[in-house]
Amino acid sequence: MKILGISAHYHDSAAALLVDGELVAAVQEERISRRKHDPSFPLGAIEWCLERGGLEPADLDAVVFYEKPMLKFERIVTTALRAFPRSWKSFPRAMQASLGGKVWVRGIISSHLDVPRKKIYFTEHHQAHAAAAFFASPSRAAAILTADGVGEWATLTVGRGERRADGGVSIEIDREIRFPHSLGMLYSSFTAYLGFEVNEGEYKVMGLASYGRPRFREQIARMVRRTADGAFELDLSYFDYHTRAERSFSRRLVDDLGPARAPHDPIDLESDDGRRWADIAASVQLVLEEEMVHLARALCAETGLADLCLGGGVALNGCANARILRDSGFERVFVPPAPGDAGCAVGAALYLDRVHFRNPDRAVPDHPYWGPDASGAELARVAREDGLAVEEAPDDTALVERVASDLAAGAVVGWMDGAGELGPRALGNRSILAAPHGEEMRDRLNRDIKYREEFRPFAPAVPAELAERYFELPPGGVRLARFMSGVFPVRPEWRAKLAAVTHVDGTARLQAVDREVSPRFHALLEAYGRRTGIPVLLNTSFNLAGEPIVSRAVEGYSTFRRSGIDLLVVGRNLVDKRAAQSSTAPGQEEEEEAAS
Ligand SMILES: [Fe+2]
Repeated sequence: MKILGISAHYHDSAAALLVDGELVAAVQEERISRRKHDPSFPLGAIEWCLERGGLEPADLDAVVFYEKPMLKFERIVTTALRAFPRSWKSFPRAMQASLGGKVWVRGIISSHLDVPRKKIYFTEHHQAHAAAAFFASPSRAAAILTADGVGEWATLTVGRGERRADGGVSIEIDREIRFPHSLGMLYSSFTAYLGFEVNEGEYKVMGLASYGRPRFREQIARMVRRTADGAFELDLSYFDYHTRAERSFSRRLVDDLGPARAPHDPIDLESDDGRRWADIAASVQLVLEEEMVHLARALCAETGLADLCLGGGVALNGCANARILRDSGFERVFVPPAPGDAGCAVGAALYLDRVHFRNPDRAVPDHPYWGPDASGAELARVAREDGLAVEEAPDDTALVERVASDLAAGAVVGWMDGAGELGPRALGNRSILAAPHGEEMRDRLNRDIKYREEFRPFAPAVPAELAERYFELPPGGVRLARFMSGVFPVRPEWRAKLAAVTHVDGTARLQAVDREVSPRFHALLEAYGRRTGIPVLLNTSFNLAGEPIVSRAVEGYSTFRRSGIDLLVVGRNLVDKRAAQSSTAPGQEEEEEAAS
C-alpha cells in the first residue's frame, strides 16, 4: 500500500511517502523550494518523494493530510465570533493568515495530484503528532504527550500507544486541552513580546533564558492556572491571540512586565531592559518546564509506563525535555527528529497505515535521514565550473583522517553526507563542523558564517558511547541526545576545553552520535579525538541566517562560496577554499568578489 502524507499551510510544509508500511522518503518543502519555513502546498516535496519511490500520483492508494480542515475552520470562526465585536476588524485577516487554502484541501490535493477524492484522508493534527512520536520510537508501550500552539482545537493531548504481540497497534488519545488554553501559545506570546519571530525565535527565548534569573516566575505562573482535573487554563486577560491577528499579548501583560522589546532593539545585558528581557525569558522557560513536568508526572503515575513519547512543537524545547526525563518519573523519553508540524507528514501517513487501515506494524528506522541525497559528483562539476580544484579521497578512512586534521588545525568544514535530515536540526549529514574548544571559534562562526546573536549557543556532537565522559547525563540521557532533543550540563572539568559549545549556564544541546546510524560522522569524531584528545566537534546547521539548511551539493557549494567555510566535503569529494585563495594573485580575489 502506497501512502503519501502531507502537512501544509501553516509553517514547515512537508511530504512523506510510505510503501508497504516502510518509510521511503520525507522532506520539508523549504529544502526543495529554498524558502525558509515554506508553508505552501508542498508540491516540490511531493514530487521528490514520488520520484524517490519511483511512483506516479496515480500509483498512490491514499493521500493523507495532517489535520481536519473543517474543524480548524470551525475553531477560527467560533473564536472570532465569540470575541465579536472586539475582533471584527481582525476577522478577515485571521481567516486568511490561519486558514489559507486549508478548507479546500481536498480540492487542492485532488487537482494538484489528480487523485480521486475518495483516496484523500485526514487525521487530526494531534493524532499525527502522536503517531510521529510513537511509531518512530522503538517503544512497545508508551505514554504519549503532545503539545504545540494549536491544531484544530487541541493544543495538548495525553494518551498512550501500544504495539501488541499479535502485530496490531493502537494509539489512544485520552484527553486534550483546547484552544485558547495552550502552552505553545504561551511560549510564542512571550517570543513575540521579546521581539523575536514566532515559530522561529522560540530557540532564541530558550538561549536568552540562560542569561537571566527567573524573577518574574510568580507573575507568569499566575497566567497559567492549574485545574482540579490536572489540566490548566490560561488567564486570557494577558493574551490577545484569540481575539486579534496583530498581537498575541495584551496590554495587561505589558502593564505587569513592562514594555515589550521591539524586534531591532539590541539586547544589552548590562542595561536594565536587557536584563529584564533575559529574566522574563528565564521565567517563562521555567514556567513551561514546571507545567510540562507536572503533566508528565501525572501521566506517568496514571499509566504506570516507563516510556514517554513526546510530540508537537513544544518537544523542540530541549531544556524542558531534559527536565521531563529527570523529574517526571519516566525512565525513557523519546522525541522524534521532527516533532513539529513537518514531522506530521510522517505521522499522518503512519497513522493512516497502522491505525486506520490496520496494516501490520513495522519498525521505523531510528534516524532522521529521509531527504534528498547530496552528490559528490555534483560538487565536482560545480566547483570545476567555478574554477576551484576538487580532491577525491580514495576511501572513507583517508577522508575522515584528512578532514579531522583540518578541523584540528582550526578549519571550518561544510560537511554533507548522504540523505538530508528531516526536522530543524543538522545531525551530521548537513552540518558545519569546527573545533569546539575556544570561544574565538564561536565568535568566528557568528561573525563569518551564521551572523546570529551571540546568546544562541552552538551544539556539540560526541560519539554516543563517550557522551557521559563529557556531559552529565541522567539515565536515558544518551537516547534523548540522539537527535539533539535534550540540553544537559557539560561536566565542569571539560567546560574550559569545550568553550565554543558550552552555554553561559554550563549546558549544551549535544548530539550523541551512534556508530550504526552515522558511521562516517562517528569515524570523523574518533579521528578528531585521536588528534586532539577530545572526540567532540562543534556541529551547527549548514545554512546562512535566513536560509533553509542546504539540501543538494550545489546549495552547499553556494553557501561555502558566500561564507567563511574553509573546506567543503560532499561524500568523498573535497573543495578547499584556502588552497584557491593562496594560489590567487594578490588583488585578484577582491576583483572577482566585486564582480560576482
Ligand atoms: Fe502542531
